[in-house]
Amino acid sequence: MSSTVEAVVSLVGGAKRIVVFTGAGISAESGIPTFRDPLTGIWARQDPEKLETANAFREDAALVWGWYLWRRAQVAQAVPNAAHQAIAQLTWTRDVTVITQNIDDLHERAGAVDVIHLHGSLEQPKCFACHRTPTAFSFEEPIASEDMRIEPPRCPRCRGKLRPGVVWFGEELPAVAWKKAVLATKNCDVLLSIGTSGVVFPAAEIPTMALRAGAYVVHINPVQVVQPSCRELCLVGRATEIVPALVFLMRPSTGAQVERPVP
Ligand code: APR
Repeated sequence: MSSTVEAVVSLVGGAKRIVVFTGAGISAESGIPTFRDPLTGIWARQDPEKLETANAFREDAALVWGWYLWRRAQVAQAVPNAAHQAIAQLTWTRDVTVITQNIDDLHERAGAVDVIHLHGSLEQPKCFACHRTPTAFSFEEPIASEDMRIEPPRCPRCRGKLRPGVVWFGEELPAVAWKKAVLATKNCDVLLSIGTSGVVFPAAEIPTMALRAGAYVVHINPVQVVQPSCRELCLVGRATEIVPALVFLMRPSTGAQVERPVP
């Protein structure tokens, strides 16, 4: 076992409070494209300004709504991978807070609870005009292609257009989610940063916030992440090869099988 892995196992094994901070990379092996990986990344095929801003929605609501329905269809076809499952297992036995930038529900479908979504979720649209979230809403059938234009449904309250319940460029993060994320980050002993390029703020501030509060930060990424701080480590590799191994090495010494708690 490499000295870095040994150091990480000992750090996480001895931690009282752990934060798991994830980006699109943790869902990549479930078949959901990341945003910035060359060739496979969503941006390689789409122009972000066309799709992830309020102006884009004003200009062509049908294109933006159709794209998000396509992404919902992708998520519906995806299954949580071994990394999602290992993180969920960790939350069943340790004090772990999962903070994600992702808008998919794969952490929840793997069994993680109270996941903090900093960039919203594909699950719950809201009204572009009155900002209300319709209570009983069911999506249309998933669509096949990535560039189908579909008129968004109307808000039952004000008849405004419904928009995806996600955070677009230039928009504020959901205040309650951000507050909970900052509280957990400032009080953790170790933060695992898994599958994120760390380029979109303020979410990308989370690992630095943990370091400033005295925690250790462990990056898990196929790409070597620069670690300016002495309390920062990087395990280079895919999430599904590193995270399950890490959780296995930290299992309780009794070797007892980790069971999902009954809600
Ligand atoms: N395992 C772990 N990490 C991976 C894997 C994998 N199998 N495959 C790719 N990665 C890494 C890439 O090396 C990259 O660092 O995942 C990261 C993906 O980076 P981005 O595509 O930029 O995704 P993310 O960091 O989540 O983007 C942040 O940008 O567009 C906004 O709202 C969007 O939430 C998103 C935010």
